[in-house]
Amino acid sequence: KNKLFTFDPGFMSTASCVSEITYIDGDNGILLHRGYPIADLAKHADYLEVSYLLLFGERPTLEQYTDFIQLVKRHTLVHEQISRFFHGFRRDSHPMAIMCGVSGALAAFYHDSLDISDEEHRDMTAVRLLAKMPTLAAMCYKYSIGQPFMFPQNHLSYSGNFLHMMFATPCEPYIVNPVLERAIDKIFILHADHEQNASTSTVRTAASSGANPFACIAAGIASLWGPAHGGANEACINMLEEIGTVDRIPEYIAKAKDRNDPFRLMGFGHRVYKNYDPRAKVMRQTCHEVLKELNIDHPLFEVAMELERIALSDQYFIDHKLYPNVDFYSGIILKAIGIPTSMFTVMFALARTVGWISHWREMFKPGNMKIVRPRQLYIGQTERPFMPMDKKK
Ligand code: SDX
Repeated sequence: KNKLFTFDPGFMSTASCVSEITYIDGDNGILLHRGYPIADLAKHADYLEVSYLLLFGERPTLEQYTDFIQLVKRHTLVHEQISRFFHGFRRDSHPMAIMCGVSGALAAFYHDSLDISDEEHRDMTAVRLLAKMPTLAAMCYKYSIGQPFMFPQNHLSYSGNFLHMMFATPCEPYIVNPVLERAIDKIFILHADHEQNASTSTVRTAASSGANPFACIAAGIASLWGPAHGGANEACINMLEEIGTVDRIPEYIAKAKDRNDPFRLMGFGHRVYKNYDPRAKVMRQTCHEVLKELNIDHPLFEVAMELERIALSDQYFIDHKLYPNVDFYSGIILKAIGIPTSMFTVMFALARTVGWISHWREMFKPGNMKIVRPRQLYIGQTERPFMPMDKKK
């Protein structure tokens, strides 16, 4: 097979980080899913085709693609007991807190009927999660605003159905805007998988113990929630709103440059991409398409575009390789579409579920399922005698 690089077989002892799914070259801004460049996938494929590729390793034939879509549609509903589970949360709960809970609760619904040693069961688990995450995500939003849950509409596309479940009400028809439908689908594609990031590593670690896959996904959701990772899109919008106007940008640029100031420009920088994030290039174009389609000139977007202009020209940012990342633009698009900031990381989790479950499935390849057990660099006390309390000085 056309390997991008070879490695010492001894490396296989850390099987949990060996993967065939996604390749990143951070210095050259390259991101490949099963060998296909992300820009080509975002331009020519939809999220379900990319999901099939991530899960099974090859692009589907037209017949496989059609069958896969039908299979996913047949599992978009969630058990009525899950709907009741939502009602145990406060209405003002953070949607990511609810998502951690309900995705983990799915483990209770499929535990006794799930044999993860059976490949067919593993495939069905992947389909169920891919199908149900949009439903659960939309339920989080509806629950938070006190509106009734909207059932999935299987005549709509994956992304169209999501928008319908989010914004339709039983009172009147909701027409899916094709520009927004495509923008949402691109956001899902661009967030689908990203090698061994913090949340994917969390899922692989949980999977390595043989844990229930729904519980593994709940662990991934918890890890993604942090503002340094998937919570950056929400944090980015909050930062733009705090800056408020273009004339206040220099004050925040100075804070970002001050090494004694813990402030970070949310939506900038990346642990791996020390060049431009290839996803950000696609997301930037989609962002401008959506702002044009919706004819939006909100001050928030002026601040965002000016911040981007400064970041791409300021020597500090260039020297520190601090480019806008995927989360900078996705937050702006989601805000423009009308999705509340608190739902941004839920959108990320929805999209990343197929990546997480693809990595979970990969752990079952021969030789991969070894418990992840990192060793540490111990810097604590050396051995010392224990003195009973009454003799202790
Ligand atoms: C995602 O891993 C993945 O693949 C993640 C992800 C995925 O798809 O799964 O791509 C999704 O998480 C994207 C990143 C989203 N996070 C943010 O936008 C939060 C803001 N970014 C920073 O927190 C930071 O850039 C990180 C955490 C993303 C990356 O940090 P690094 O590479 O570990 O860099 P660092 O924190 O060690 O900083 C290196 C230097 C420091 O300056 P010096 O001490 O060398 O002088 O760069 C500076 C930092 O001060 N720096 C920033 C900065 N990020 C790094 N300065 C200002 N603003 C920033 N955002």
